[in-house]
Amino acid sequence: LFSNFSTLVLGHNHPAVLAAIQRQLARGTSFFGPTDAQTRLAQLLQERILSLEQVRFTNSGTEATMNAVRAARAFTGRSMIAKCEGGYHGTHEALAVSVTPSLIEAGSPDRPANVPADPGLPQSVVDQVLVLPFNNPTAAERLIMEHRYELAAVIVEPALGTNGMVPATTEFLSTLRRVTASNGILLVFDEVVTFQSGFHGAQGRYGITPDMTTLGKVIGGGMPVGAFGGRKDVMAVYDPKAGGAYLSHAGTFNGHPLAMAAGAATLEHLTERTHAALEAKGELLRQRVRAACTVLEVPVQVTGIGPLFGIHFTDRPVHTYRDTLYVDREFRRRVFLGLLNEGYLLGPKLLGCISTPVEEGHILAFTDALTRVIARNIR
Ligand SMILES: Cc1ncc(COP(=O)(O)O)c(C=O)c1O
Repeated sequence: LFSNFSTLVLGHNHPAVLAAIQRQLARGTSFFGPTDAQTRLAQLLQERILSLEQVRFTNSGTEATMNAVRAARAFTGRSMIAKCEGGYHGTHEALAVSVTPSLIEAGSPDRPANVPADPGLPQSVVDQVLVLPFNNPTAAERLIMEHRYELAAVIVEPALGTNGMVPATTEFLSTLRRVTASNGILLVFDEVVTFQSGFHGAQGRYGITPDMTTLGKVIGGGMPVGAFGGRKDVMAVYDPKAGGAYLSHAGTFNGHPLAMAAGAATLEHLTERTHAALEAKGELLRQRVRAACTVLEVPVQVTGIGPLFGIHFTDRPVHTYRDTLYVDREFRRRVFLGLLNEGYLLGPKLLGCISTPVEEGHILAFTDALTRVIARNIR
């Protein structure tokens, strides 16, 4: 139920993915230039992510968001980037602010503090980030308007992934869309995790079109991958003939053929029907966990979107990153370890992801195990 943090939507060692990797292995592992597999994956992505007029491949989600930031800066000529409190976009510095701040550090809920996520992060980097409160459209709009002439982009996960599988509200995303569009600021959806929430990604679910999208995880079928792209005029910063600001996207292994082949084989199996089944199983799991906790009289909030889910032991509704902090961490750790002893690996924050081999029976067995683990720990 973890699928290497949502990278293996078809489960481990899917025969079609292994066969695609083996076919590509026989043809060669890396080349100086694009390959058929890369073109195929790009086409499959464009059929799904309709805003992806052009796409470029990287070796990780980190590089995808890093390059999206660079492209947005080159395109707009502005340097500030807005991100949400609790948003995780990888390990490069430009977005390493207010990723997991404590309640003490985080500051006012309407005007979150810029909390460096890493020791040694230069203050000049921190100062280039505007932190927005997730799911607070009024405050986010006010902050964006205050910095509207400095902002190159707003980047947002349509559902906070690493920090709780907390979906954005439609109102929040549509406010970001409106205020960015009217101020020449690019809106970037980081769909590294949420891509698998629907055939057309989270942007399809919400019916909101970003200017750029970043991708990773699932699209490499278990191989290291990332991708970023979107509006053709923005991606033209990579075209030396376009005549505007020119940005290089060098990378020895960009579009690595093994990842491209594994990713294409994965997407070929991820049909609209498969997505509908994953959605139903995600909903079943969320309902069963809620029902189990009701019987045990343990307060819980089960969040998620499509096959992605988060279990939060709190009676407080979870709509923001801060809401995820009001949990008994020791109890959560015991449940995590208890589930491990029962044979279930979730993320340590009790996050999970349903893959296609997971059947209804597996979900029922999981919730039975969860019931046993909780019962042992509340005695
Ligand atoms: C939303 C999001 N963006 C970017 C990344 C970074 O991806 P990678 O670990 O491939 O560098 C992650 C990783 O968990 C993520 O969850």
